[in-house]
Amino acid sequence: MDGNGRWAKAHGVPRVMGHNAGMQAMKKIVIATSNMGIKYLTVYAFSTENWKRSTEEVSGIFNLIVKYVNSELEELDENNVHINIFGEYDMLPKASVDAINKMVGRLADNDGLVFNIALNYGGRDEILRSVKEIVAEGKDPDELTEDDISKHLYSGSAHFDVPDPDLIIRTSGEERMSNFLTWQAAYSELMFTDTLWPDFAPEEYTEMIEAYSNRDRRFGGRKEADK
Ligand code: IPE
Ligand code: MG
Repeated sequence: MDGNGRWAKAHGVPRVMGHNAGMQAMKKIVIATSNMGIKYLTVYAFSTENWKRSTEEVSGIFNLIVKYVNSELEELDENNVHINIFGEYDMLPKASVDAINKMVGRLADNDGLVFNIALNYGGRDEILRSVKEIVAEGKDPDELTEDDISKHLYSGSAHFDVPDPDLIIRTSGEERMSNFLTWQAAYSELMFTDTLWPDFAPEEYTEMIEAYSNRDRRFGGRKEADK
């Protein structure tokens, strides 16, 4: 969800207002995803590198979490949304941790859209955690499989096993992965748009999903017709 800062600059408002507009865009995308019958959605909300930003911006983002949990929890529940957090969020301010725990707990039994929020998340950090857990379990290196690593990632140990993403969209014209789902993205289709995240609307999202459905995914194999 990139481009909140540039959106704020373009509108001559403080950066935190860009993040607020980003939250509103996210709300609409979550509901659109649920309505399309897509089962899994993961958003990159805050990376392990985002702590480098000013305290004002970081605490502004965390305050928005509390605000949006309070205003959106009812609607998320009505839409049968389940939430997983990918990342260690216990070092966030207590009000944010409490709000997140309340939200995750309230939606725990829902079996609609599985909405994963990557929060204080880094792809390399996630792989490192997985390997550490496997080593701590005393796994024989000769027996170690890719599946073992997958299972110890946030996506593999979540309440609903979250499959690798089919499609990854990055907004705001940047064309990088920036430590997002580093292990899981091995065969994901990638799409980029110049639209800044706060302006990313369900219409453009739906067009991208349609374009995705016309892509030919071979996973390193060959097209049926060419065989
Ligand atoms: C994305 O928007 C939101 C977060 C990383 C929290 P940015 O804040 O990165 O926006 P730009 O890149 O400065 O425009
Ligand atoms: Mg950015």
